[in-house]
Amino acid sequence: MSNILCYKLNTMPKSDDRNLSLMSMAEVQQARRFHESFPQYKKTPLVDLKHMANYLGLSAVKVKDESYRFGLNAFKVLGGSYAIARYIADELQKDINTVDYTFLTSNTCKQEFGQATFFSATDGNHGRGIAWAANQLGQKCVIFMPKGSTQTRLENIRKEGATATIEDLNYDDCVRMAAQEAAKVPHGVVVQDTAWEGYEKIPAWIMQGYGTMALEADEDFGEKPTHIFVQAGVGSLAAGMVGYFANKYNDNPPIMVVVEAAAADCLYQGAVANDGQPRIVGGDLRTIMAGLACGEPNITAWDILKNHVSCFVSLQDEAAAMAMRMLAAPIKGDTPIVSGESGAAGFGALATIILHEEYKALRQALHLDQNAKVLLFSTEGNTDPDVYRKIVWEGLNH
Ligand SMILES: Cc1ncc(COP(=O)(O)O)c(C=O)c1O
Repeated sequence: MSNILCYKLNTMPKSDDRNLSLMSMAEVQQARRFHESFPQYKKTPLVDLKHMANYLGLSAVKVKDESYRFGLNAFKVLGGSYAIARYIADELQKDINTVDYTFLTSNTCKQEFGQATFFSATDGNHGRGIAWAANQLGQKCVIFMPKGSTQTRLENIRKEGATATIEDLNYDDCVRMAAQEAAKVPHGVVVQDTAWEGYEKIPAWIMQGYGTMALEADEDFGEKPTHIFVQAGVGSLAAGMVGYFANKYNDNPPIMVVVEAAAADCLYQGAVANDGQPRIVGGDLRTIMAGLACGEPNITAWDILKNHVSCFVSLQDEAAAMAMRMLAAPIKGDTPIVSGESGAAGFGALATIILHEEYKALRQALHLDQNAKVLLFSTEGNTDPDVYRKIVWEGLNH
């Protein structure tokens, strides 16, 4: 058997599921109302790849294309912007429904809240989202990026007026650095897209912000998807999507599959260990899927995922690269999607499971057949255009 893809069907013990309500319909609708208040807000397209579905022997393959999100080429801004707003609402003891774009950019907000500095560690997309939101809302932003981050991603963050540096540390160590530095600055606030013991409120708001994407996809899908494939770094995005659909279709939820980069497959390792406890992957976490290069799970997200995910997948870079090319040049008649390395991972897993005969047993276990209607999220476009061209045009695989 090749190791393009490793998987573990979920047999972990369940918890009392206390985090699932974070992604209730009421919470997600509140987040969407906030995003709608931005002048740049527009639903991103859900692309119906009819011919691709037919080719793969499935009933439907629909891909949410986040390259259109707020002109930022990735979904991440949904989380950071909502968390900043929730933080300001909390500080001012206001209802989040009154803390919208108009309020946040008003003189009243300036007088009542003043200016904070929002700190974060990021592969690029989260930092760009935070930097953009801080810039739009007249706040300050400092970003630490892990070693191996590309200059293009760094410059995109600096263009939003943030202070940003590439550190000689991996992602998880950059997270610790952001927390230390924020503590030294007056009104320094860590807006991190992952939770750890004692730091759970802001990452929960970030997950709820991602809920806007789930809600839009659910509305546009037109019926209940039978399957959802979603990629994971720390698992906040995946828990946001899985949590939303597990709440919405409580009695009969879709079959949900979480896909990680093999070099940083901490959730998969947790599923393999099978005791319900999260696992950590260390080292340089080298993968083309920069957004998925996180070795320490979000503990809030982990609880949702272990209760509601059917299968955890660990994927090699070459499958993500293949998926980028398949989405860029799909079957004639389908709309092409510019999907970046992390964006294409979910589709990479789906296509690998269908197209490689050795995954027949998994295909059957997951009921990926002619009745399957699959929802996927292309979470980024060509966020690094040079790397995108090397992979899609020149055939680079890792
Ligand atoms: C494009 C993209 N997709 C997916 C993810 C994974 O999200 P999470 O770290 O919440 O699992 C990221 C994270 O940065 C990302 O940038």
